[in-house]
Amino acid sequence: MIKKVLLTIIIINFIAFFSLIIYISVTDSKIKTESDIEGQNQNITNDEYIYKEDLLSLGYNVKVIEMIEEKIANLDVKNYLLSRKYDHFEEFANSEYFNIQNIERYEEYYLKHPEYTIDQVTLYVEIGLDYDFYTNINVVEDYTSITALVNKYNQIPDDATFNNLLTLPKPYSNNGKKHVRSEMYEPLKQMIDDAKKEGIKLVVISSYRDKTVQTNLFNKYTKNNGLDYALKYSAKPRHSEHELGLAIDFNTTQPTFKKSKEYKWLKDNAYKYGFIERYPDKKEFITGFAYEPWHYRYLGVDIATKIYIENITFEEYLVKYQK
Ligand code: DAL
Ligand code: ZN
Repeated sequence: MIKKVLLTIIIINFIAFFSLIIYISVTDSKIKTESDIEGQNQNITNDEYIYKEDLLSLGYNVKVIEMIEEKIANLDVKNYLLSRKYDHFEEFANSEYFNIQNIERYEEYYLKHPEYTIDQVTLYVEIGLDYDFYTNINVVEDYTSITALVNKYNQIPDDATFNNLLTLPKPYSNNGKKHVRSEMYEPLKQMIDDAKKEGIKLVVISSYRDKTVQTNLFNKYTKNNGLDYALKYSAKPRHSEHELGLAIDFNTTQPTFKKSKEYKWLKDNAYKYGFIERYPDKKEFITGFAYEPWHYRYLGVDIATKIYIENITFEEYLVKYQK
């Protein structure tokens, strides 16, 4: 009898022990399932936990949250995502030009331009094209750099000056009084000399302009042709590459220049000397300026070659390769 009682006690203990083990393991796995986004990370902070739970309740799925974990380290930056659910977050985050801080702008721009691909949306927003021209203007402090970006969102400081302008004599320039930055003086002359050997006559008709000259030009275009025309063909003062001394207008600003053999030569060869066609056909929506086949910008051979090969604008180049 005593034996039977002892045996029963032992069996009950066994059952209780194994039940406890099973309970612990089931409870444990249940915790893991509920918070499977935690993965193996035992050091998860309370903030991160709350953040992940919030993302789940906003409607992000576990897969996207895991991707956020992988791509975005900083918790402050992750908090951008908590203001609302971004419907295309996963696609934007996989884009080459993705910058979490602009996620709201990507979504807005994509709504306005469903015809664009995800990469176009991120690229164009990074350029700033979701803002109207001449808004959100940045003052370029490093304006003496030969890669300074000057456009409708970027201007040189009001008091910007250059101490390395050189005079371009005739026959390189039409009046022997044009000025260019010293960095491009030799490449420019070399290009004009080499073109001449091939029967191509290139003459600089406009190069450096100071603020007064650019202001007068913009006002003249506005008076003669109206504001819309002026905005397309002339930069506002402090927004022109001519004010950098790194832009050249060749031969003529007549539309017929696009059909000339000089233009064809420039298109095929200018990059070898460090120049790019700055306002190409069909890129007005990026550059902000109408097609100007006569206007070339000096950037140095490496950058000019990349831009030529990829057939992109300077704006696109900067987002693709310098961010
Ligand atoms: N014509 C170009 C856009 C300028 O004024 O700089
Ligand atoms: Zn020009």
